[in-house]
Amino acid sequence: MIAKFTNYQELSAFGADKIIQLVQQKPDAVLCLAGGDTPALTYDRVVAKAQEAGVDFSGVIFIGLDEWVGIQPATPGSCYHFLQQKIFGPLHIQKDKIYFFDAMANDLKAECNRIDLAIEQHGGLDLALVGIGMNGHIGFNEPGVDAALNAHVVELDEVTTAVGQKYFTSGAALAKGITLGMTQIMSAREVVLVASGPKKAAIIREAIQGRITNTIPASLLMAHPRVSILLDAAAAAELD
Ligand code: GLP
Repeated sequence: MIAKFTNYQELSAFGADKIIQLVQQKPDAVLCLAGGDTPALTYDRVVAKAQEAGVDFSGVIFIGLDEWVGIQPATPGSCYHFLQQKIFGPLHIQKDKIYFFDAMANDLKAECNRIDLAIEQHGGLDLALVGIGMNGHIGFNEPGVDAALNAHVVELDEVTTAVGQKYFTSGAALAKGITLGMTQIMSAREVVLVASGPKKAAIIREAIQGRITNTIPASLLMAHPRVSILLDAAAAAELD
């Protein structure tokens, strides 16, 4: 389904409710939550609602979506740091429930295998909440990606390295990423894509109304049996 919201606040409240409801129904749910600016308010709402309603997140498994290769997890701007600040810290998630790519590892292939195995051992993702890059990427599944891949290391697209600077206070050396593959995202029992603001309007139109193609990885999600695309008015502005 495609849901249009008047504003970012309403979109975020809806996204948060989905996560809360899933965890209420399935306290040991396997969640894959994206970094990035768009889901930030969703996560704040998840934390607020979990605290208000006493929702227990202690059994939830968290799988990292992606990470910038060569960036320390403690560096503000890394995906891990963002989720630590927004979700893991506030909800007191224990380390043994978090499977996140170590993008400083010498053997990144082994990191990919470790995360592939974690997903398999926990029975697959119940929910993947993802954003969309300006070039249509999902996680770091960049335009042209082999949609049959599991976790993999990728040479980042120049749009991604340029836009990615917004997460860092001083210039970061961004060249490679490590990411779940489209196979794993497409195998999630539910996918939620969030997009907000006028900058996403054109790529949202292409992803939703264009043909399904790996040159716009987000368009692949249109073939998912249970996908929700949550848009604020600005991101939905170019849809017919
Ligand atoms: C980033 C991340 C994605 C994120 C997307 C959109 O580069 N790799 O996981 O969903 O781009 O980010 P934002 O929400 O900041 O626009």
